[in-house]
Amino acid sequence: MLNAWKNFGGGLEAVDETGGNIVVRPARAEDLNDIRDIYNQGITDRIATLDSDLKTPPDMDTWWTAHGGRYTVSVAVHEAAVVGWSSLNPYSQRPAYRGVAELSVYVDRAWRGRHIGRILLRELEGEARRNGFYKIVLFTFPHNQAGQRLYRGVGYREVGTFYRQGYLDGRYVDVMAMEKFIADGP
Ligand SMILES: CC(C)(COP(=O)(O)OP(=O)(O)OC[C@H]1O[C@@H](n2cnc3c(N)ncnc32)[C@H](O)[C@@H]1OP(=O)(O)O)[C@@H](O)C(=O)NCCC(=O)NCCS
Repeated sequence: MLNAWKNFGGGLEAVDETGGNIVVRPARAEDLNDIRDIYNQGITDRIATLDSDLKTPPDMDTWWTAHGGRYTVSVAVHEAAVVGWSSLNPYSQRPAYRGVAELSVYVDRAWRGRHIGRILLRELEGEARRNGFYKIVLFTFPHNQAGQRLYRGVGYREVGTFYRQGYLDGRYVDVMAMEKFIADGP
């Protein structure tokens, strides 16, 4: 259980059950190396994404450029160290989907299981609402137990599972779509 939860100045501060202060704030370009390290842990673990190649600095520059405007990136920080990040990603370029965002969330291996994922998702929701989205969707592996528990715990519902949807390490894997309404939609 979180024992403190406070909004301030566009960021969000929480105290996790270990007593550690976690602040969520908008990411800055200087955070990109830390974001990349945490991203690459998730890729190496083969639990988070169909990406199998580790992200390079140029990959991250492209990714950062794609996250301007409404598609923001936030970082969770503990004593100046980035321990996790989340982002709102374009779901589709079609104007009809302008109210729908897709999310990513990654927590440093050493910090998983301490509610940082949950803190990041709560902040992300507020951010998405402020940026005019009414729904967040995500795609995850059904066997990603931490992800399943995290998403269901904050109110995401399973839309369905694509069987043998993505090719990873020489075999096809299932991918689950989930959604959460975060504001009144059209
Ligand atoms: C998935 C991830 C973001 C979750 O973040 P986290 O900070 O570790 O998760 P939290 O501590 O907020 O825990 C959320 C819930 O998941 C549960 N959980 C955490 N780790 C777990 C694990 N390894 N197995 C099962 N459940 C787990 C927690 O108990 C908690 O459940 P509760 O609310 O019922 O107590 C994190 O594990 C991670 O970065 N994994 C690698 C990247 C990834 O998979 N990203 C998601 C891509 S879809």
